Amino acid sequence: MNRDEGLALLKTHVETQRVFRHSLAVEAAMKAYAKKFGEDEERWGLLGLLHDIDFEKYPDVHPQKAPELLKDTDLDQVFIDSILSHGDNSPIPRDTMERKCLHAVDEMASFIIAIALMRPTKLEGLKGKSVKKKMKDKAFAKAVNREELTSSMEALEIEFNDHIDIIVSGLVEQEVFLNESGLTILG
Ligand SMILES: [Fe+2]
Ligand SMILES: [Fe+2]
Repeated sequence: MNRDEGLALLKTHVETQRVFRHSLAVEAAMKAYAKKFGEDEERWGLLGLLHDIDFEKYPDVHPQKAPELLKDTDLDQVFIDSILSHGDNSPIPRDTMERKCLHAVDEMASFIIAIALMRPTKLEGLKGKSVKKKMKDKAFAKAVNREELTSSMEALEIEFNDHIDIIVSGLVEQEVFLNESGLTILG
């Protein structure tokens, strides 16, 4: 499966902008991490793009329905299991880099976008310091579990500021790419 095929499949299962933009954001962050670790950017990007493919239709059992939605593709079982591994209480361990990364960027990418939306310069110049401040602000993006943001990052054994820089760089690249066709992840 290539990126265009992945995007087309995602669009058949996701209609809301919220989930769609989140998928594009996590795709971008995964690609940035793949680049950082010398991994397969296309695969990691696809994993980010498709990780919430069943969320809109099956929010209560997400991501358990993802394998069914992806069954007619050539995606391998390890990839499918990596999607399953990002769910809460998943029986699939987050024991590979792609799984650790997916877990670490999933909520953080959205948290960063929520911060960017409040800044005049949006993603530009957004650093770990601002993210740290917002993580301490309990009234901001209340639904986001701060402990999970931290523990998922620690599982990657990466410094906080580097973690934010990598994700922001991916998001900026994605935003430039999307803007060319009148789309955005900021919203
Ligand atoms: Fe999810
Ligand atoms: Fe997600």
